[in-house]
Amino acid sequence: MRAIDVIMRKRDGEALSRAEIGFMVDGVTHGSIPDYQISAWLMAVLLRGMTTDETAWLTDAMVHSGIRVDLSDIPGIKVDKHSTGGVGDKTSLILAPLAAACGVPVPMMSGRGLGHTGGTLDKLEAIPGFRVNLSLDEMKAALRKTGVAMLGQTAQIAPADKKLYAMRDVTGTVESIPLISASIMSKKIAEGIDALVLDVKTGRGAFMKTPERSRQLAESLVNIGRAAGVRTEAVITAMDAPLGRAVGNALEVAECIDVLKGGGPRDLIEVSVELTVRMLVLGRVATDRADARRQVDAAIASGAGLDRLRRIIENQGGDPRVVDDPSRLPTAPERHLVRAERGGYVGSVDAGLVGRASVVLGAGRDRVEDPVDPAVGILVYGKPGDHVSAGDRLLELHYRDTARRDAAVALLAGAITVDDVAPPPAPLIVDEVH
Ligand code: URA
Repeated sequence: MRAIDVIMRKRDGEALSRAEIGFMVDGVTHGSIPDYQISAWLMAVLLRGMTTDETAWLTDAMVHSGIRVDLSDIPGIKVDKHSTGGVGDKTSLILAPLAAACGVPVPMMSGRGLGHTGGTLDKLEAIPGFRVNLSLDEMKAALRKTGVAMLGQTAQIAPADKKLYAMRDVTGTVESIPLISASIMSKKIAEGIDALVLDVKTGRGAFMKTPERSRQLAESLVNIGRAAGVRTEAVITAMDAPLGRAVGNALEVAECIDVLKGGGPRDLIEVSVELTVRMLVLGRVATDRADARRQVDAAIASGAGLDRLRRIIENQGGDPRVVDDPSRLPTAPERHLVRAERGGYVGSVDAGLVGRASVVLGAGRDRVEDPVDPAVGILVYGKPGDHVSAGDRLLELHYRDTARRDAAVALLAGAITVDDVAPPPAPLIVDEVH
């Protein structure tokens, strides 16, 4: 078989065979096909698409580029959650301890922030001492001890994805439904879970900007999960405005602690609770959604979720005292307020711009290997629908460097609109796919 023939067949819009897809993935994994041919093939896939069968074969080949973890010796139905990426999207730190407190084991392999979106690993590392580079043995030990393991992708999990993702990132081939589906699902299938809840983001701050594209992605992800024997469902949630108020790693951890203490912003609570409820039902610790909801509410009210977070942090080397005293989290030395120039109702808060501004402050990265500053970020005080008077604070920038602050303020100039009338209420939970 020759790579050039596979590239030309896809370029001409033909469907590839399982053997051809396996050949390309094998060539990526072992370095036997040069990067320029892989890149050309990825562009052909982006432009021509893939059938459901091709996408399933691609995912399967990527899973088999590494190992599929066997978690059968850990009791219970193991359930993970994965988000396609958003701004202020911090639900993992809320739902993992809540689900575990209700009896669901949560093995969670997460990523780092890339582009304007944040990543769970960066948020966890804002907790002093927290270690995310667990080995597979440490992952199992953590699951046994606290019911949760929160870690980064290990070298054995879908190594083909690591190379393909890096190549897609620099060749304009990220926004392809089959490529995103295979990338996400190969890692999730390989981590050894029984069930998965997907949070597919839609809107200005998401990869998929329209509900139609988001639904297509959700259907593709759910189909792959089901074919691989992982019970998978997807919720499509709004990502036009940042979720919650905090954007930036330590600020987001503090906001998650607030929610587990029974406070926090309404939108963040709603999405976190919705996802946790689904995890409890899939994990068969709740008989139905109403039972799951009662359990989740009780885990917040009793402090069981908060206590579980304390134990997870302690078990992974972090300072558990941040839970009772969030001032122990890193804080930025300087603050800058963006105020409303007129009175009225906050119309929109552009999640894409707020995400990019927080990256400019140092909370995110342009390249995977760049360091992040855990302390910097943005607090969003003006949320869509809020009534504000002229001079009220809309955004609070937490920063270290004046040049970065100025660049972020310039980006944010058009991020928030204030109008005479309140915007119509927009649902947060837009759609679902079973
Ligand atoms: N997240 C992934 O892991 N892969 C993609 O392709 C997009 C988002």
